[in-house]
Amino acid sequence: MSVDAPPATASGDLPVDPMLPRPFQVIGTHLDTRDTVTLALEPLDGAPLVHRAGQFTMLHAFGVGEVPISICGDPMRPGPLMHTIRDVGAVTHALVTATPGTTIGVRGPFGTGWDVSDGRGGDVVIVTGGIGLAPLRPAILEVVSRRAEYGRVVLLYGARSPEDILFAEDMAAWAADHGIVVEVTVDYGPPSWTGRVGLVTNLVARAGFDPLHTLALVCGPEVMMRYAATALVARGVRPERIRLSMERNMKCGVGLCGHCQLRELFLCVDGPVLDYARLAPLMDVQEL
Ligand SMILES: Cc1cc2nc3c(=O)[nH]c(=O)nc-3n(C[C@H](O)[C@H](O)[C@H](O)COP(=O)(O)OP(=O)(O)OC[C@H]3O[C@@H](n4cnc5c(N)ncnc54)[C@H](O)[C@@H]3O)c2cc1C
Ligand code: FES
Repeated sequence: MSVDAPPATASGDLPVDPMLPRPFQVIGTHLDTRDTVTLALEPLDGAPLVHRAGQFTMLHAFGVGEVPISICGDPMRPGPLMHTIRDVGAVTHALVTATPGTTIGVRGPFGTGWDVSDGRGGDVVIVTGGIGLAPLRPAILEVVSRRAEYGRVVLLYGARSPEDILFAEDMAAWAADHGIVVEVTVDYGPPSWTGRVGLVTNLVARAGFDPLHTLALVCGPEVMMRYAATALVARGVRPERIRLSMERNMKCGVGLCGHCQLRELFLCVDGPVLDYARLAPLMDVQEL
């Protein structure tokens, strides 16, 4: 287990204390679906937060608590710090109901990234469900910005229902402007829904990619990731080329508290993104 060096500010100033939330102000909010909101944040101390695709921050709703949330903005472009948050409990509710002008504490960025550049020269297949598309958005934006360096890029996305589909405009643009094959499926849809119904993991078997030259990125509920990885391996993708984001219980984010421990791994610093070769024997271990 290793503890990351304290994150440095973009300006190269002295490292900040990783346990100390920095004040950020909400400068914009966007209601993505009935229970999911994207927050745009700007630092009140001036230094932008530099991150890699796949990293997360600890967002602190003052007086309520702190939770890990992935950064969903473009890592290659300066701009507000973006997080897409699903309202599932006390802290996420406080975050999704924050209005412009609210101060939020931010620690991080923490954790490993998707390292999508490792897939250059080959195909990329992304399998994701629900809010799992948010942590993958920066990786997709990175691929899109260097599209010519990748082969086929396939995005398989599953949502509970049509009204829970995230980033529909982004997905349409990735398909139309960058030749990304986007396949969306829902668990259930009204009679007016003409798209696919069924599990996203079922789409892996007939998706168009070359398994021997593919980098696979998977994010979603753990059971979905397990089935997705199994389906990818059945197609011939090597476990080392399948990356999963293990988003388990986290508190400190810096390898100190042990809340995220998974046998020898501390998921906040050794993950959340890890390859399936490493994770497969550990996924049966329950959360602490
Ligand atoms: C590295 C990482 C990245 C994450 N990125 C995002 C993100 O981009 N957007 C987002 O909306 N959420 C993300 N999450 C999940 C988010 O941290 C939890 O939803 C949040 O901690 C719930 O806190 P709460 O106080 O609102 O609800 P709680 O009352 O703590 O929990 C409410 C419900 O959510 C479940 N829950 C709690 N933590 C998690 C978790 N880690 N994964 C799944 N279910 C959980 C609980 O079991 C419970 O059923 C991420 C988690 C991790 C570890
Ligand atoms: S959250 Fe990983 S050790 Fe504290």
